[in-house]
Amino acid sequence: MINSLRGMNDILSEDYERFTYFINTATDIAQKYGYHFIETPLLEETALFKRSVGESSDIVGKEMYQFIDKGENDVCLRPEGTAGVVRAFVQKKLDKAGGIHRFFYHGSMFRYERPQKGRLRQFHQFGVESFGVDSVYEDAAMIMMVSDILKALGIAYRLQLNSLGDSNCMPQYRDSLVSFIEKCEDDICEDCVRRKATNPIRVLDCKNGTCQVIYKEAPKLINHLCSACEDDFEKLKKILDDNEIAYEIDTNLVRGLDYYSKTAFEFVSDNIGSQSAIAGGGRYDRLVEFLDGRPTPAVGFAMGIERLMELIKMPEVKRDGYYLGAMDEEAIDLVVSLTHKKRKSDKATCDYKAKNLKSHLKGADKVNARFCCVIGTNEMQNDTIWVKDLENKTESTMFLKNF
Ligand code: HAM
Repeated sequence: MINSLRGMNDILSEDYERFTYFINTATDIAQKYGYHFIETPLLEETALFKRSVGESSDIVGKEMYQFIDKGENDVCLRPEGTAGVVRAFVQKKLDKAGGIHRFFYHGSMFRYERPQKGRLRQFHQFGVESFGVDSVYEDAAMIMMVSDILKALGIAYRLQLNSLGDSNCMPQYRDSLVSFIEKCEDDICEDCVRRKATNPIRVLDCKNGTCQVIYKEAPKLINHLCSACEDDFEKLKKILDDNEIAYEIDTNLVRGLDYYSKTAFEFVSDNIGSQSAIAGGGRYDRLVEFLDGRPTPAVGFAMGIERLMELIKMPEVKRDGYYLGAMDEEAIDLVVSLTHKKRKSDKATCDYKAKNLKSHLKGADKVNARFCCVIGTNEMQNDTIWVKDLENKTESTMFLKNF
C-alpha cells in the first residue's frame, strides 16, 4: 500500500467541512477589510526565498523542498506566502503604480520540518498582505482582523507583540547584542554561534533551554528603539487598548523570517500543545525593495489552518435538502430523474438501489437530509411520492406535479 508522505495529510469529510468553514469565515472578514484574492504559484525560483525569508533562517537554511527542474532551474515549493505575493506585486508593476494594494490568499506551504502534532511538512495558510500604507493604523488593522477571525471561530488566543526597529535603530542594537553574545559564546548552542555571524537577533528565539536562560540578560531591542519606532509602537499599543485587544509585550519575539521591521506579532493558543502559534505577522517595509521593486511600506500576517482546525467551534449543522429512494426496481429511473430536477433548486441525493423504507430512512439520516422521499409501486400507480420531514417528524404523500 502506498501512503501519503510523512507530514502530509489528506483533508476530507468532517475535516474538510472545518477547512471550508474557516476559509469562508476568514475570506468574508478579509473582504470586509477591503482585501482582494490573489493566487500565486506553489513553485518559485529558490532565489526568491533566499532574498526574502533570508538564508540565515531555518526555513531557507534547512527546510526547503528545493530541486533542479528539467530546465536546470533552481526551484522550490513555497515555504510561505509573502515572498510570492511581493514578487507578483513587483512583477505586475504595482509598486510603480503607487496607491494602496491589499491582497489575501490561502493555500499549501511546504517546510521540511520534523513532523509532530501541529507541525506538518505540507500545511495550509490563510494570509493577507497590504502594500502602500506606512501608518501604524494599518498594523493595528491587521491585528484587529486576526482577532475578528479568531473571535468569529470561537477561538481564544493570547497576542504577543514586539517592535524590531528599523534601519535607523536596528544596526546599533545588533552591535550591542553581538557584544553580549561574544561574552557568553562558550555557553550558547552551535546554532546560536552560527546565528551570531548570519543574523544575530535570531538568537533571541532559540528554543534551547540553556540559551533562553542566558538571553534573559541580553539587551532588549525595545529599549533601543529610535524615536520614530518608539512613537509608532506606543501608538500601536494605544490603538489596541482603545479597541480592547489585550496583548503581552514579548521582547524576544523576533519571528523566524528575516524580512520584518518595526511591528512583529504572534497569536498563540494555550489549547493545542507545543506548536502553539496560530498566526504571525508584522511589518516588512524593506522587502519590496529587496526584490527589486520601488520602496513600498508593507505589512501582513498568515494563519496556520491545520492548527486552527483543532480549535474551531463549528456551528450546529442543520438538516438540509432531499434524499430520494425507490422501494421497487421500476421506480429507480423516476427517482433518478426527480433527483436531477430537484437539484436545480436544492441539495438532493438518491440511492440507485431499490430498498425498504427503513433502509432509506437510514440513508437520509446518513447524508443529513431534511426530507426523505420514497417511491414504491403504490406511489408509481398514483403519480405520488411519500415524504417525511426528518426535522419536524411529519409525513405526507404528495402528487409528483407538486413535488
Ligand atoms: P510564519 O509564522 O512562518 O509566518 O507562519 C504563519 C503560521 O503558519 C504560523 O503561526 C503557524 O500557525 C503556521 N505554520 C507554520 N509552520 C507550520 C507547520 N510546519 N505546520 C503547520 N502550521 C505551520 C509566515 O509564514 C509569514 N509569511 C507571515 C506573514 C505574512 N508575515 C507578513 N505577511
